[in-house]
Amino acid sequence: MMSENFAAFLYLVSGVLFILALRGLSHPTSSRQGNIFGMVGMGIAVVTTLLLAHPSAGALLLIIVGIAAGGGVGAVVAKRIPMTAMPQLVAGFHSLVGLAAVCVAAAALYAPEAINIGTVGNIHTQALVEMAIGVAIGAVTFTGSIIAFLKLDGRMGGKPIMLPSRHLINIALAAGLVLCLVIFATTESHIAFWLVVLIALALGVLLIVPIGGADMPVVVSMLNSYSGWAAAGIGFTLQNLALIITGALVGSSGAILSYIMCKGMNRSFISVILGGFGGESGPAAAEGGEARPVKQGSAEDAAYLMMNAARVIIVPGYGMAVAQAQHALREMADTLKAHGVEVKYAIHPVAGRMPGHMNVLLAEANVPYDEVFELEDINSEFAQTDVAFVIGANDVTNPAARDDKTSPIYGMPILNVDQAATCLFVKRSMASGYAGIDNTLFYKDNTMMLFADAKKMVENIVKAMAH
Ligand code: TAP
Repeated sequence: MMSENFAAFLYLVSGVLFILALRGLSHPTSSRQGNIFGMVGMGIAVVTTLLLAHPSAGALLLIIVGIAAGGGVGAVVAKRIPMTAMPQLVAGFHSLVGLAAVCVAAAALYAPEAINIGTVGNIHTQALVEMAIGVAIGAVTFTGSIIAFLKLDGRMGGKPIMLPSRHLINIALAAGLVLCLVIFATTESHIAFWLVVLIALALGVLLIVPIGGADMPVVVSMLNSYSGWAAAGIGFTLQNLALIITGALVGSSGAILSYIMCKGMNRSFISVILGGFGGESGPAAAEGGEARPVKQGSAEDAAYLMMNAARVIIVPGYGMAVAQAQHALREMADTLKAHGVEVKYAIHPVAGRMPGHMNVLLAEANVPYDEVFELEDINSEFAQTDVAFVIGANDVTNPAARDDKTSPIYGMPILNVDQAATCLFVKRSMASGYAGIDNTLFYKDNTMMLFADAKKMVENIVKAMAH
């Protein structure tokens, strides 16, 4: 058996390892090491908890079977999932954290003796308060994450669904939730507990349904934060230091990430939460062809323009991830560099479908880190650039965000690709991007559209460059 003090020390060690993991994950070069710190920290936390609790042989078997089943499913899913589906996978995992918080609170309600928080009908008030908060946040996280998963996976439309009087409904539900929480914490009523669960489940759906696709990254990291607070709440109930530390770390890092993303889109957190963004108010998406004329080019045109340029800036977006064009893209950049052309990459903070999406793909293709620049570090350079090569990006270049006050994305910082002498746009059609709005850049005189799958187009450009 392990002493409480030694266990606290080991929990502290795992807490420090989790902090090092977060630090490592903040840059592609150190992210693998960060992951290892996280895994070691979690291993120490799990083993310490088992040694401290010294469960019976039967319980230990159940725990091992649970870890093996959960870990096995997690490993298989993580191996199989394509990079493009990572955001919905994360949302799916968050829903499980929320569900786990609800299950742990329910278990504590029906078997409080098992974790020394009193007896049935006589649970300590402090534990009741902790359980109430943990179960409410857990249930909101559960259904909210499922809706985020369905939206990101395309199983549910990305457009906001606006119920009439939704703010009133939400306020009424929130008031009902607080009332049930108070009744539960003061009377230990099982009915009040399950009402808390039901209301919080409904709130999770109603809060996320009106949020449009373009705001989903903020929502996912916000739900990430909620799942952390739910875990921390349950950590108090279970009196488990490691769970409190981990939950607080996840809770606060998710909140900080949400804040950074809101800044990246120039939107306030409150306006994201209130939803409705990306609705019908913007110019209609140009689906299936447009009446306005656009200039269309070929791989040969693109190769000629870039080989005769002094400076090229590549702007990758979600389409590059879909086409898995990063390796071909790097080959193209190598050819250009060998020809004396200066090549840089410009990354928008919300390009793709998750934070760091483009950085990960470029790193996978061994693009040197010193060629990759964040928006604020490169945006002033487009005006002195010969060619902006936009590959599968759309919303993050849309000048409406800068110039059109009526646009739903007005205020979001964009990459100023329109200021380059020529802007090449690789995409398959005139379809809109994630926010569902038209991009006026397609119709500009200095824009040339290269309609094709991004990987095929880049491969053809590389071939054309060889001739
Ligand atoms: P989008 O605006 O979504 O545009 C991507 C473009 O890629 C589409 O217009 C599509 O046009 C094209 N495309 C798709 N598959 C392609 C393929 N195989 N080959 C060539 N082109 C292809 O992407 P973005 O500019 O990266 O902006 C990201 C958007 O997603 C923002 O609105 C952002 O708010 C949102 N979002 C971001 C995140 C994070 S954290 N990054 C998470 C969720 C949502 P075609 O169909 O015509 O080919």
